[in-house]
Amino acid sequence: MTLQMGVDVGGTGIKGGVVDLETGALVTDRFKIATPQPATPEAVSETVAEIVDMADWEGPVGCALPSVIKSGIVKTAANIDRGWIDVDGEAMIGRAVGATVHLINDADAAGVAEMRWGSGEGRDGTVLLLTFGTGIGSALFANGNLVRNTELGHLQMWGGSAEARAAAKVREREDLSWEEWAEPVNEYLAYVEWMLAPDTIVFGGGISKKYDEFLHLLRTDAALVPAELQNNAGIAGAALLAAGEVT
Ligand code: BGC
Repeated sequence: MTLQMGVDVGGTGIKGGVVDLETGALVTDRFKIATPQPATPEAVSETVAEIVDMADWEGPVGCALPSVIKSGIVKTAANIDRGWIDVDGEAMIGRAVGATVHLINDADAAGVAEMRWGSGEGRDGTVLLLTFGTGIGSALFANGNLVRNTELGHLQMWGGSAEARAAAKVREREDLSWEEWAEPVNEYLAYVEWMLAPDTIVFGGGISKKYDEFLHLLRTDAALVPAELQNNAGIAGAALLAAGEVT
């Protein structure tokens, strides 16, 4: 069994655990600490280190952040503190953890996990994973290869970022019915399909647990499938990155 630690930094919680790379399943508890507010580089790094300690893990760590990551440098910060921008995140979190840290965008992490063990498995052509949570994340695959750092949650719609109207958080915050929320989500999906014509759209993020409630309300030309790994996808994908298995 090959094991690897993965951590997923989200808008509300920082979660992590040790992943069995054969199956994508956690072999430890799923450790979780509320994301410190403000989610500054220092505070988040310390929390990631706490999670690694809780898992009793020694060795390299994969870590997913809700940001564009270029060679370990954090380039955007939509739902975390803006102090992250241009920080060498791999070095900073690595110092707190005391080990090598590999960073990846959170949706890209969830995507590689879904392609390996979840509903993207065996799907060729253009596969697009969208995660609906605090924001909207995207992971784009062309014949199984990840095109990193797409930011399709920030497509400009309705006078701002699409995620400001169509993220799952908006439904909760504004107490929308599934039908009311499905309307902007369908408009968003139509725009994304017009741009990329994906063969498959994997619908992910925490809300994908409730797909029975809304999947039938969504209209796409692409095959639309719910994510299978849900909450652990980011952790498992970050672990794959640390194991050198993301190309
Ligand atoms: C961020 C993305 C992230 C997504 C989901 C967006 O606001 O810009 O990098 O993948 O939220 O967390």
